Amino acid sequence: MMKYVSVALAFAALALAQQSEWGQCGGIGWSGATTCVSGTVCSVLNSYYSQCLPGVASSAPASSATSSAPATSSAPAGSLPRLGGVNTAGYDFSVATDGSFTGTGVSPPASQYAHFTAEGANLYRIPFAWQLMTPQLGGSINQTFLSIYDTTVQAALNSGPNVHVIIDLHNYARWNGAVIAQGGPTDAQFQSIWTQLAQKYGSNQRIIFGIMNEPHDLPSLSTWVNSVQGVVNAVRAAGSTNFLLLPGSTYASAQAFPTEAGPLLVKVTDPLGGTTKLVFDVHKYLDSDNSGTHPDCTTDNVSVMQTLVQFLQANGNRQAILSETGGGNTSTCEHLVGNELAYVKSAYPTLVGFSIWAAGAFDTTYVLTVTPNADGSDQPLWVDAVQPNLP
Ligand SMILES: *[C@@H]1O[C@H](CO)[C@@H](O)[C@H](O)[C@H]1NC(C)=O
Ligand SMILES: *[C@@H]1O[C@H](CO)[C@@H](O)[C@H](O)[C@H]1NC(C)=O
Ligand SMILES: *[C@@H]1O[C@H](CO)[C@@H](O)[C@H](O)[C@H]1NC(C)=O
Repeated sequence: MMKYVSVALAFAALALAQQSEWGQCGGIGWSGATTCVSGTVCSVLNSYYSQCLPGVASSAPASSATSSAPATSSAPAGSLPRLGGVNTAGYDFSVATDGSFTGTGVSPPASQYAHFTAEGANLYRIPFAWQLMTPQLGGSINQTFLSIYDTTVQAALNSGPNVHVIIDLHNYARWNGAVIAQGGPTDAQFQSIWTQLAQKYGSNQRIIFGIMNEPHDLPSLSTWVNSVQGVVNAVRAAGSTNFLLLPGSTYASAQAFPTEAGPLLVKVTDPLGGTTKLVFDVHKYLDSDNSGTHPDCTTDNVSVMQTLVQFLQANGNRQAILSETGGGNTSTCEHLVGNELAYVKSAYPTLVGFSIWAAGAFDTTYVLTVTPNADGSDQPLWVDAVQPNLP
């Protein structure tokens, strides 16, 4: 990767009219350079975004061609395929960012899985409240709840032979206001729920364990990373070889990852050996304060994802997945989310894929909704930004 960067910089100095590697080179509204530096090809990712990708000219349309992936892109043996899809929320409704919970959980409509899979999706992230799964902290899983949750998981898996599901513990590294191993739940209690889930789902490699959603305001990063290592060890001790998603800090910020948690998380080891099955979990929203609470998008922040890719490649060729991103129902978001997802798709296998936030039990008035309309039609953001970038 560093080699490509220096080549791109050298050419940029000599030939200003040529776009550098990874740069935009076309698309609706684009007025910049439309030719690419040597060794890269201007590839149409969608009607809004063409990008200079490494490689030689190919006539195959990028949207259907794995040939648009970076030249360094042979996926490590046994790694995940390119993934793309959607969060189906509901079992997490009313988990607050302090890890408290007042709800009862709402089942995402099962019909959405067949709907989105038919359109090319192969990834569903299914969040749930810790308090629903183990009503008593550190206690046994509520089998009644688990059977309800599992009905949803199976509906997703059964929608297609290549569909993967992320089991997402959606608690912000907290239970009722206090941080794991930093005043809140013990590491043993955090490990306990994952040991039980590993026993339930450990035989299915299409199930990915998202060990914690959006840690934030952590007093000690190294203590958090130690808690992550404890869960990795516990899941393996339970006999599971599933892929694990490891989240960093600042709400799993993709932007903060290379400078905050990344340098520590890359040291987490897998008792299985290697690191192929430890994938980093990152989020990125495109509104003014990166919170995912406003309808309008202000940036595609592709540079954030490029910096992340450089960090991952420089630190052992690791992988990450963008498990949350999104935008409102505006033409700006359609353009900017489309740019972002096109880049993510092009950066496989360093970036394994994405799941957009959100469908499931959200109704069609939610600010970031991609829930299909009652007549079965899709939201404009889904049609214009997500669907073209599915695997
Ligand atoms: C177990 O889950 C079911 C279904 O969500 C719920 O009705 C029941 O109250 C739960 N039990 C406990 C002890 O929370
Ligand atoms: C990402 O976008 C936000 C909002 O426009 C901006 O403040 C921030 O500087 C961007 N980050 C990078 C690294 O480009
Ligand atoms: C999204 O925006 C389009 C165009 O402005 C509008 O027709 C449609 O009703 C909007 N959809 C929702 C769910 O608000």
